[in-house]
Amino acid sequence: MTTTNVGYWSELAEIHSRGDSYPVRQVIDGGSTLRSVERDLLGDPAGRRLFHAHCHIGLDTVSLARLGFTVTGADYSPAAVHHARRIAAEAGVQNCEFVVADSSEPAAAELAGAFDVYYASYGVLAWVPDTNVWFRAAATHLRPGGELVLVDEHPYAATFEGGVASEQPPVSAPYWQSEGPYTTRNGTSYSGDPDVIAHDVQVKWPHALGEILTGAQRSGLRITGLQEYPYSHYRSVPEMTEGTDGYHHHPRWSASVPFLFSLTLRQEAWHDGDDYRPGPAGFRGAVFTDDVATWRRGTGWTPLALTANVPLGLHPAAMSLHYGQAIFEGLKAYRQPDGGVAMFAPYRNAARFARSAARLAMPELPADDFVAACETLVCADAAQIPGGAGQSLYLRPFMLATEANLGVRASDEYLFAVIASPVDHFFSSGAAAIDLWCENRHARATGGGTGEAKCAGNYAGSLPAKAAAVERGCAEVLWLDAAEGAWVEELSAMNFCAVRQLPGRAPELVTPPLAGTILHGSTRAALLTLAADHGIRVTERPIALAELLDPGVRRSPRRSRAAPRRPWCRSAGSPPRPVAGGWAATAPDRSPRRWATRCWRSSSAGRRTHTDGCTGYPG
Ligand SMILES: Cc1ncc(COP(=O)(O)O)c(C=O)c1O
Repeated sequence: MTTTNVGYWSELAEIHSRGDSYPVRQVIDGGSTLRSVERDLLGDPAGRRLFHAHCHIGLDTVSLARLGFTVTGADYSPAAVHHARRIAAEAGVQNCEFVVADSSEPAAAELAGAFDVYYASYGVLAWVPDTNVWFRAAATHLRPGGELVLVDEHPYAATFEGGVASEQPPVSAPYWQSEGPYTTRNGTSYSGDPDVIAHDVQVKWPHALGEILTGAQRSGLRITGLQEYPYSHYRSVPEMTEGTDGYHHHPRWSASVPFLFSLTLRQEAWHDGDDYRPGPAGFRGAVFTDDVATWRRGTGWTPLALTANVPLGLHPAAMSLHYGQAIFEGLKAYRQPDGGVAMFAPYRNAARFARSAARLAMPELPADDFVAACETLVCADAAQIPGGAGQSLYLRPFMLATEANLGVRASDEYLFAVIASPVDHFFSSGAAAIDLWCENRHARATGGGTGEAKCAGNYAGSLPAKAAAVERGCAEVLWLDAAEGAWVEELSAMNFCAVRQLPGRAPELVTPPLAGTILHGSTRAALLTLAADHGIRVTERPIALAELLDPGVRRSPRRSRAAPRRPWCRSAGSPPRPVAGGWAATAPDRSPRRWATRCWRSSSAGRRTHTDGCTGYPG
């Protein structure tokens, strides 16, 4: 908010709060300033929490509280909020409070996602520099299913600014956002109070109706209603007279001019049953934020561009489609208690991305550029970052070979882009333990292969095993080494760590070493660091599946990577059996060669906590 407007608004707060023309006394005595348009749109107040933006001296706020809403009124001006608090106290209204806040800023931590209704009315958008920012900020206040109700001067009528009575509507202010801002000067208040005001300048931003709707739609809110009205909330043209309905009517223009509009929107992003929500099935990855950050490389990288998230125009001969030059990353941005946003270890992903690129003969993107692209997208789509427990914005940076050529060689053209998807917990079970399917037909990676690169082909090769896992009620695949089929490597989308605790011994965190076939996970690295910081012994060493099943078993891996692959269950010898102390228990699926390894986190303290055996850490 500009200091000019705050100065103007604070001065008017002093004048209006005297109550000569504003109905301050009536409201204190039990009256209401609400008119029919907003009353009808706001609906049933019972049990609903309402955020009243741009509340000025709180007359509507107190009226809303009297209706039955629990209201938080917010205004730019500390003077206005001071008077609002005083008037509410004199009115004896308990269920309303006031805060000083700029409506173009996201909700403060304690107000984020807390409201059933976000309400703003009459003269709001004229002081808003950018409606995209305003709607996104408003959306951060709403809980899933919450509604935004906006009633404001129609942008067409706003062009009559300071116009004089005439047969035809005069036009003295711009209509398009790109034409603003402009300033106006009013020696006295629109309220009719005779005081000559010192802060008589206002800065205003015009917003065409299309721009308002686009901003609203891009905020992630769903538009549920737009209405236009042939009357105004104030005497916007001198010939207008106030009717018994509290609105100002024009004797001639009302037949052809919309003076007000109202817009209702719904916060559907995390609403049950809506396709915008990641949903009870956990991470579905089928919902995306509005934008995409892109760079293209031919002779060099083009500048970063932020564009709408629309389908890519890839040539059917794009080399990534045929020869698999496609790499990606995955990292998350989390809402913070102070309303900010933090990405988890982006430079680590940048470094891994560069290593993946090198392995697939693709150009390396400088780490700073990788992080800048992620930041740009996070800032642009900040309003779409969910703030609930376990929720975050999943960022997917990726690079594709885009040259149209069927020759088997590295492409000469690439696209680097970042898209984002609001997500819930990775697994539908939340943070609880998952069942794993131990794969013995296929290998995910071989020594000298692409196992430690994050490339599309690795994931394609893992899909039949994933399907087999899901068929058996398991959430993920536990991959074994390609040579012997005996050594635990990682899961299809996460590294593997286990807590080993033998009777009478301190717990130890063990994880397979990064020896070329395992992805260098950020979560793995963080976990190892944190464990060491907490005095837990950390060991990176080969883990035999047999050892997982029976902690007494320790083997050494064979040296040769070219050794023929054998199903692990033969190497492991006898079928797994429940163990009294150590790793995890197992649940055979009754086939002699396949076992589903059931891993769990014991919920009971005491004797069985040492079975808190192995678990995956989603990335
Ligand atoms: C194969 C594989 N391993 C491990 C991980 C975990 O990596 P991070 O902890 O960096 O998310 C992932 C994550 O995407 C993965 O796909």
